[in-house]
Amino acid sequence: MVIRDLVAKSIFEQSGYIAPEPNGAIKMDANENPYSIQEPLRKKLLEEIGRVDLNRYPVAGIPQLRERFAKYYGVNKNMIMLGNGSDELIQTLCLTLKGKINGVLIPVPTFSMYKIIAVNTGNKVVEVPLDKNFDLDVDAMTGRIKDKFPAIIFLSSPNSPTGNLFSRKKIEAIINKAPGIVVLDEAYASFSGRSLLSLLKRYDNLIFLNTLSKLGMASIRLGFLIGNKDVVAQLDKVRLPYNINSLSQIAANFFLDHEDEFSKQIIEIANRRDELYRGLKEIKWIKAYPSRANFIFFSCAFDSNRIYNKLVAEGIVVKNLNSPPLMPNCMRVTVGNKKENETFLKALKSVTPK
Ligand SMILES: Cc1ncc(COP(=O)(O)O)c(C=O)c1O
Repeated sequence: MVIRDLVAKSIFEQSGYIAPEPNGAIKMDANENPYSIQEPLRKKLLEEIGRVDLNRYPVAGIPQLRERFAKYYGVNKNMIMLGNGSDELIQTLCLTLKGKINGVLIPVPTFSMYKIIAVNTGNKVVEVPLDKNFDLDVDAMTGRIKDKFPAIIFLSSPNSPTGNLFSRKKIEAIINKAPGIVVLDEAYASFSGRSLLSLLKRYDNLIFLNTLSKLGMASIRLGFLIGNKDVVAQLDKVRLPYNINSLSQIAANFFLDHEDEFSKQIIEIANRRDELYRGLKEIKWIKAYPSRANFIFFSCAFDSNRIYNKLVAEGIVVKNLNSPPLMPNCMRVTVGNKKENETFLKALKSVTPK
């Protein structure tokens, strides 16, 4: 048997997604909420989790939890689908929307999993560079839409890794030109104070994605999708029956019960972000970009691999994005708590240009 002959070339040639092991480091690489759940809420959650019958399958389809999300967002339950992280929902979209119209179009740079998942599910991917302000280049995207007729266009707003919001006018221009579905991924919208969810009333080819991962519950892997019920009904045929495990279901309900506590943390993180941005601006050899998310994108005047290694040696992990031509010597740092941000800035300032 020759493995190479069994595996799609597009998969065989990949190096694979690598998430660094935390190993006790200060984690500022994955855009998580730095605050863990404190007592007495922690105890309450553990008690609820302790009552789960682990010998039983989870509730399939989870109408009750979908209903709660539907209520929260003011939509019908049939417009909601839950996923094992929004990564799974991206995968479900890429597996399902492959009819006569197919293929995926993305602006770049953007969230790396759109491309990885699209390729791994057998889709062709078209990449269109963002403009110099990291906003959508509508003319270039429209040109590729006309050539390629993609079934899915993924737009992350705020965009990762650049941190900016795309302009509403440009997003709508793309929705109007799209022959298929536009997925507006609002994973970071809570940090930006802007959601375009109300556009659902106007466009039946628009699907929203969101996740609890950035809001304080990354470990439970709970993403959700909101949109046209006819599209959701098709996606639901592809969803695996028990995709949300019982422990995650309890934790997601717990999140909704205590949403106000998590919201306070979001406000705190947005304040810390602005503080961290000011700190980065003080470093002469860094160009930091304004952010509406819970992370900051910055480029360095010299080799970011060296800077990354130095930070790792100091026990801090950030995301090293260094990849010319789009992101030469670029990095992304997740907003941490006050102490983490200070430790990071101090370590960064201690790096000297050679
Ligand atoms: C834009 C964007 N969408 C989706 C995700 C994935 O979220 P989840 O943890 O729900 O799979 C991320 C994670 O980094 C992201 O940056």
